[in-house]
Amino acid sequence: KVLILDFGSQVTQLIARRVREQSVYCEIHPYNMALEKIKEFAPKGIILSGGPSSVYDKDAPHSDLGIYDLGVPVLGICYGMQLMTQQLGGRVERCDKREFGRATLELDGASEIFASFTGDVEVWMSHGDRIELMPEGFALMAHTTGCPTAAMKDEKRRFYGLQFHPEVVHTPRGDEMIGNFVFNICGCVPTWTMANFIETETASIREKVGNGKVLCALSGGVDSAVVAVLIHRAIGDQLHCVFVNNGLLRKGEADKVVNLFTKHFKINLHHVDATDRFLDKLSGISDPERKRKIIGNEFIYLFEEEAKKLGQVDYLAQGTLYPDVIESVSTKGPSAVIKSHHNVGGLPEKMNLKLLEPVRELFKDEVRLLGKELGMPDEVVYRQPFPGPGLAIRCIGELSKEKLDILREADAIVIEEIRKAGLYREIWQSFAVLLPVKTVGVMGDARTYEYTCALRAVNSIDGMTADWVKLPYEILGSISSRIINEVKGVNRVVYDISQKPPATIEWE
Ligand code: XMP
Repeated sequence: KVLILDFGSQVTQLIARRVREQSVYCEIHPYNMALEKIKEFAPKGIILSGGPSSVYDKDAPHSDLGIYDLGVPVLGICYGMQLMTQQLGGRVERCDKREFGRATLELDGASEIFASFTGDVEVWMSHGDRIELMPEGFALMAHTTGCPTAAMKDEKRRFYGLQFHPEVVHTPRGDEMIGNFVFNICGCVPTWTMANFIETETASIREKVGNGKVLCALSGGVDSAVVAVLIHRAIGDQLHCVFVNNGLLRKGEADKVVNLFTKHFKINLHHVDATDRFLDKLSGISDPERKRKIIGNEFIYLFEEEAKKLGQVDYLAQGTLYPDVIESVSTKGPSAVIKSHHNVGGLPEKMNLKLLEPVRELFKDEVRLLGKELGMPDEVVYRQPFPGPGLAIRCIGELSKEKLDILREADAIVIEEIRKAGLYREIWQSFAVLLPVKTVGVMGDARTYEYTCALRAVNSIDGMTADWVKLPYEILGSISSRIINEVKGVNRVVYDISQKPPATIEWE
């Protein structure tokens, strides 16, 4: 396994994903991880990430110098390379001009990192400092016009530095460079596969749970679904799933969930149809935060009720993912509450349950691979994210059964057309929003006065930032005409072309 020390780069997680794509396990830890802990972790290689600091800043983050005496290969990327340079006796200086964007790498002789590379190599640069003097023992691996030391190596000690970012997509052959580091230089073996993961994780779930009972809340989303199937594979009927249908799901979704889990996977599923209860509680409410709070509270209440019927339960299963677990270095101050997210975070303490989080080591894309490996259908595994409060926050203003039904029909058309265009998996989220705005239209010879439907399609890496998708006019056209023709109650369709920030993905 490989250790990644994080110096606060926005893209540290991408390094980890590139390493794991080579079927090599790795973990991200803060740059100041204690040497003792590093020794305990026993990495076959260490990668120092990039970061926003300059090595000359007063509070520049430094890792323990002892990492260079472990006899383990070290790869420094951007800030990581500069820190390595400074720590090993070289010199780093400010560039006259920040270098940002595409650059062409010219190789200076052969090296293991660039094994099998010939000619020029396209890379992505983003730095304000550069290496003026390499530490003793280092030789030049590559340069660019703007950066005389773009890559350096000390083959004897197996230390390497890259000024550019091999982990981003704009460095097209970056994955090969990382592969060369982990295999040729660190000697890692590609054993991190989802088939192996299932084997070790089911064994560990069995051991941990013993004869206990595990409770799992199914939302219909990828993470909880994969977690349920994985745990079921380990302990069968000791797993009990609760599925609360809040009446805010998409068209046909509740049936699909029930079918898949009871008929296909034969999992104990307790299905609570609480459509009317939720609508009752939400009646007359138009404030987004109040909607969210009501839905969250009602869910917890119903979930607890259902759990009580099961008698003694020992564990609560959760689909916590690796990005939630990584201790982030980037010093995010206390941020304002933009939206109170619906999750089951508070439940375990309240219900006095231990947590079972079998995918907490995995990235989202690995969870999807795991789902495939467990025999789950593509429709579940490659589902776009869907918010806990469901259609309630896409039906702007006061809710009613009528409006939710209109939205459900419009949304189904959006998904169908996006799928037909082959874009469903490419797009982060694509959906319909029903506005509380009525406008005048004409149908045949008659005047209409009906609702407006907004389309939203965004691309995003993690939901934190997003850009609207430049959908082809033909697709926008067919979605619009189908909605207006087929969905009673809508006579106008508009397209949302706002970025996040400053807008958000969901409208409420
Ligand atoms: P926003 O609207 O904040 O959404 O830009 C970012 C991402 O989060 C999803 N979202 C939620 N997911 N519970 C969830 O599980 C929620 O309450 C919730 N609210 C928003 C949203 O769909 C997008 O992917």
